Amino acid sequence: MSKFLKKLLKGVLADEELSKVYSSFDMIGDIAIIKIPDSLLTKKNIIGEVILQSIKNLKSVFLQRSSVSGEYRLRGLEVIAGDEKYVTYYREYGCKFLVNVATSYFSPRLSTERLRISNLVSPGEIVVNMFAGVGTFSVIMAKKHQIKVYNIDSNLDAYILSIINSKINRLKDRVFSIHGDSQEVLRLNRFKDRIDRVLLPLPERAHEFIDVSINCLKPSGGHLHFFSHIKSDTKSQVVPNSEAYIRNLFSKYNFELKHTQIVRDVAPRIYQTVTDLFIFK
Ligand SMILES: C[S@@+](CC[C@H](N)C(=O)[O-])C[C@H]1O[C@@H](n2cnc3c(N)ncnc32)[C@H](O)[C@@H]1O
Repeated sequence: MSKFLKKLLKGVLADEELSKVYSSFDMIGDIAIIKIPDSLLTKKNIIGEVILQSIKNLKSVFLQRSSVSGEYRLRGLEVIAGDEKYVTYYREYGCKFLVNVATSYFSPRLSTERLRISNLVSPGEIVVNMFAGVGTFSVIMAKKHQIKVYNIDSNLDAYILSIINSKINRLKDRVFSIHGDSQEVLRLNRFKDRIDRVLLPLPERAHEFIDVSINCLKPSGGHLHFFSHIKSDTKSQVVPNSEAYIRNLFSKYNFELKHTQIVRDVAPRIYQTVTDLFIFK
């Protein structure tokens, strides 16, 4: 994608400007979201138009004005070409998702991770997705296996979209959504000792939800997929640093650390990682 963007903009930007263009951009259905360095902001509309004209069926190009932030993990967007339209359909692994890029979190960059986790699931499982967003992890898992999944999200928009996504993928009898704070929902003990697998895809705050997630797991134990943000000067140290962090966080529990990997880099020397754990109760 990096070369693709530079190729598109060759002849439009000077060579020095081209060297500053960021390496990639997100394509979500018929919407493109790009980042532009401050020094090139005066060219944002030309850049947007070139992208719009070059990609078939693209309807909108947004500039990402701020990084993902706040409880709902939203990013500031400004339309720079095409329609100011935030809603689109996105397709992944044979599933279809209605997404609103302005009001709910969604990232196509987690798609490999969604597939990886869905491949670990066994038929018959009951799963809780504690920070479900529009329900992508849950739908992909449930499309692949005969399982039940409970989505929880505190963002009302994400919750509504997750219900729609469960329905349009014909999973409304197996993928359910709950609107609320996961901590509060799980403290009500509705899931206590019932769950085989819990997903915690909120790297900034997952550590605050360890006790409530383990409380859900069956007495025979269960799986956690725990997302973290790890600082590291070198890429080779990310997994060891992440595992040291996890071993410390879970020190009062009996667990097997099964696997850790980098999901993506999120900032210079900051990586998102995921760790798969089996918790013995
Ligand atoms: C990083 S997004 C993950 C979205 C989803 N897993 C995906 O792959 O698209 C985190 C989500 O957690 C939700 N969230 C944040 N704090 C929460 C809380 N305390 N309880 C429930 N959901 C929360 C946000 O609204 C957001 O949709």
